[in-house]
Amino acid sequence: MGAPNLLNPERRMLRAMQLSDADRSWDLASLLAACDWTDQAVAVGAGHGLQNHGYVSVSETRLREVRLDVEGERAVKDGLLEQRLWSWITEQSTATMADLQQAFERHEAGPGVGLLKQLGVEIESGVLVASDPERLEATLLERAAFLAALPAQAEALDETMLGHFSSRKNLIQSVERTVRHWSLTPAGLECSPDDLQESMVVTDITPELLQGEEWKSATFRAFDVALEATTPRTGRSHPMQALIERIRAIFLEMGFSELVDDYVQSAGWNMDALFIPQDHPAREMQDTFYLDEPASIDIDQAVMEAWKAIHEHGGETGSTGWGGSYSTDVSQRPLLRTHTTVNTIQYLAENPTEACRVFSVDRVFRKEAIDRTHLPEFHQIEGIIMEEGANLQMLVTTLKTFYAKMGYPEVRVRPAYFPYTEPSLEIEVKWRGKWLELGGAGIFRPEVTEPLGITSPVLAWGMGLERLAMLVLGLDDIRQLYISDLEWLRNQPIL
Ligand code: PHE
Repeated sequence: MGAPNLLNPERRMLRAMQLSDADRSWDLASLLAACDWTDQAVAVGAGHGLQNHGYVSVSETRLREVRLDVEGERAVKDGLLEQRLWSWITEQSTATMADLQQAFERHEAGPGVGLLKQLGVEIESGVLVASDPERLEATLLERAAFLAALPAQAEALDETMLGHFSSRKNLIQSVERTVRHWSLTPAGLECSPDDLQESMVVTDITPELLQGEEWKSATFRAFDVALEATTPRTGRSHPMQALIERIRAIFLEMGFSELVDDYVQSAGWNMDALFIPQDHPAREMQDTFYLDEPASIDIDQAVMEAWKAIHEHGGETGSTGWGGSYSTDVSQRPLLRTHTTVNTIQYLAENPTEACRVFSVDRVFRKEAIDRTHLPEFHQIEGIIMEEGANLQMLVTTLKTFYAKMGYPEVRVRPAYFPYTEPSLEIEVKWRGKWLELGGAGIFRPEVTEPLGITSPVLAWGMGLERLAMLVLGLDDIRQLYISDLEWLRNQPIL
C-alpha cells in the first residue's frame, strides 16, 4: 500500500514509530529523540497530519501543574511570613506587640499577626501568646513542606493546603498543560517503509524552482480542495446599509435623483401642507415626537395663509376643507418628521413647475412601543414623480418595477386612504404565499398641490424599509436589525 501525499516530517515520524513496538505509546520526548528533532511544534504538527490520515492516534490529557509564584519563591528562601514572625516571638522573653512592630515593617507586621491569629496566637495585654505552640509549629512545618515540594501536579497535592495557598497572594500559580501521547493505528503500521522515504516535496511552485531541474524528481504536494477552511472575516456593510445602497442603485437606474434633508421639521410642512387636519389623531403628542428646541420654526406667512384657507374652507380648489379654525402657531411647532413626505412636499414647493423624479431613503420617527414589528425610529423609501400626464397606471408600474428589481415580482395594490392623496393605494407584495403590506401611495390632492403652485399631477409613495428588510433577510423580529448581534451580522448574505 502506497503512503499517499505525506509530508517529510510525517514520513519520518511514521517510520520511527514503525521501528519500535507496534502498540507503543509515545510521549513527546521519546518522539523528538527518535526523529532527531528539537522543535516540539514539528512533532505535534507531524502527529496531527498523521492523525488526519488515520495512521496515528493521539490522546491528549490536560494536566494542572502547581508552581511557586514570586512570594512563594521568597518564602522557600527566607521562610513564610508567619514562620519568620513566630521565630522572632520564640526568641523573645516576652514578645510584645510594640516590639514586634519595631522589628518588622508595617506591611509585614499587620498581615503576619493576622496569619498567626488564625493559628491560635492571641494578644493578652499587649503580649503575643500562642494557645497551642506545638500545633502551630506543626502547621508551619507542613506549610513549608508543601511549598518545598513544588512544582507538582495538582492532583497529587493536599487539597486543604492547595486551597490555603491559592487564597494567598502570589505564593503559588497553576499552569494548565496538555500532554499528548501518540500511537500507531493498524493503517499506520501497514504503510510500507519504502513509501516513507523523505523526498523533496514541492509545496509552492516558484519561477526559481522551474528554472532548475530538481523539480522533475520532486513530489508535488497535492491540496485537498474538499477540506474545510475557515471563513475569512473582513469588514462589511451592515445589512441595512447594504439594502439602502441597493435601493438607491435601483432608483438611480430608474432615472430618479436623491433627496436628503433634515429630520427636524415643522408641523406645517409635515402635516398642514399635506392637508392633514389639525385635529387629526396622528398629530397628538402620543403619536408624534414634538421638540422644545427650537421653540418654533418659521414658515413663510403667505404659505401659511394659503394652508389656512385650504384647511378652513378649501381655498380656491373647490374643496370644502376641514372647517374649524386653523392655527399658524400649531404649524410652526417643531417635531421629528413622522414621514419623509415632509421633504418631498418642500422640494415640490421650491420646484413647482419643473417635471421631476425624486426619491429618498431616510429615517422617520413615531412614538411607537417597540415590539416584533414596530420601532420608534425607522426608515421610509419615499418617492415622487411629477410630470404632465402622470397617472395611476404609471404609479403602479413604477412601484411594480421597483419591487421586481428587488426580487419581488408579485405586487398588488389595494384602495386606501391618506388625507393628501386621491386616489390612495396600499402596496402589497407576495412573500412565502402571503400578501404583506409594505407602504402607501397615491396622487396628491389639489388641496396639497394648488396652494404651492404645482400644476402637473404628482405621483407619490412612502414605503417601510425595515419591513422590506425583514422580507429580504427572512426575519420575524424587526429588532434583530439593530441589536448588533455580531454572529448574526457575520452570517447575513451579501445583498
Ligand atoms: N407618508 C405615508 C406614510 O407615512 C405614505 C405615503 C406617501 C402615502 C406618499 C401616499 C403618498 O405612511
